[in-house]
Amino acid sequence: MINLRSDTVTQPTAAMRRAMAEAEVGDDYYRHDQTVIALEEKAAELFGKEAAMFLFSATMGNLVSILSHTKRGESLLLEERSHIYNNEAGGLAALAGLTPRTIRGERGRMSPEQIKEAVFPDAVLHPQTSLLCLENTHNAAGGVCLSVEQTKDLADTARSHGLKIHLDGARLFNSAVGQGVSPEDLTREVDSVTICLTKGLGCPVGALVLGEADFMDDARRWRQAVGGGMRQAGVVAATGIVALDTMVDRLAEDHSNARRLAALLTEAGLIVDPLPDEVETNIVFAEIPAALMDAKDFVQGLAAAGVQVNPPGARRIRLLTHHDVSADDIETVGGIVRKVLGP
Ligand SMILES: Cc1ncc(COP(=O)(O)O)c(C=O)c1O
Repeated sequence: MINLRSDTVTQPTAAMRRAMAEAEVGDDYYRHDQTVIALEEKAAELFGKEAAMFLFSATMGNLVSILSHTKRGESLLLEERSHIYNNEAGGLAALAGLTPRTIRGERGRMSPEQIKEAVFPDAVLHPQTSLLCLENTHNAAGGVCLSVEQTKDLADTARSHGLKIHLDGARLFNSAVGQGVSPEDLTREVDSVTICLTKGLGCPVGALVLGEADFMDDARRWRQAVGGGMRQAGVVAATGIVALDTMVDRLAEDHSNARRLAALLTEAGLIVDPLPDEVETNIVFAEIPAALMDAKDFVQGLAAAGVQVNPPGARRIRLLTHHDVSADDIETVGGIVRKVLGP
């Protein structure tokens, strides 16, 4: 089976499994788990932030960050197709008590002007706007990157209106590798960032939140409140250390595989968006023209031939490249797609 449904389907590497078995652990509630502390310190140094915190998931990282930056009754700005708004079970409304104000970005990228316009005026009848959430890379827009300059322009605008800035950087390393810049440069202007360890980095569990020390004190309390406190978590944090040491640079392979995949799908008659030479990281979206085949039949045909993809829309499929898919696998997928579509 070649599984292109997500980059979350990766299996832990042999080095990760060894690190799990050998990890020095303790009760993280008392800050006695040296492996968790080592991961948090390593990440904080890499990002040039004062503090880092290990958590179960990026969803939890985003939630505790939002809870730490805002008060109930306020509002936050986010992109219309952002993961926080669409795919985190409404936590921002149900648990943080916030009014979301969404903005349709160009390929997922909002502009400073849009931010300016979306901030509620400071009047008693409006919820006060207190936070801007960014997403880099943007998942639903097709793995699109925000540059260092774009992040700075958005952050400057938000800050000039008194907003804090949180970055959902679930795939921040894809963005950094894709653009050839450092994670620190991409996150310098934000007050907090969530990094996911389970996507391109291949860990079985876990994410990190990074920010200043005061923010992290609040975030640690909120993590506890949502049931995210951990005990001998070094068993999984150990995989995060392996990931930061060995799994970041190789993301470039996933990106070139994604571009090749987009080209093969185009040759087979599918409409890819972003176009093959516009694919920036590891996410490919493709539409199956009605004249070619019914999308459901296409997805079923692929599965029967050993290729799994996600169908997020009636005519659309999403394919992600990752550690467990090789360049040869991508060529195999190209052949299978042509066969399933028929002559
Ligand atoms: C952009 C983005 N943010 C956050 C998440 C949530 O990650 P997790 O599954 O670790 O909660 C995802 C997961 O796919 C994502 O794509």
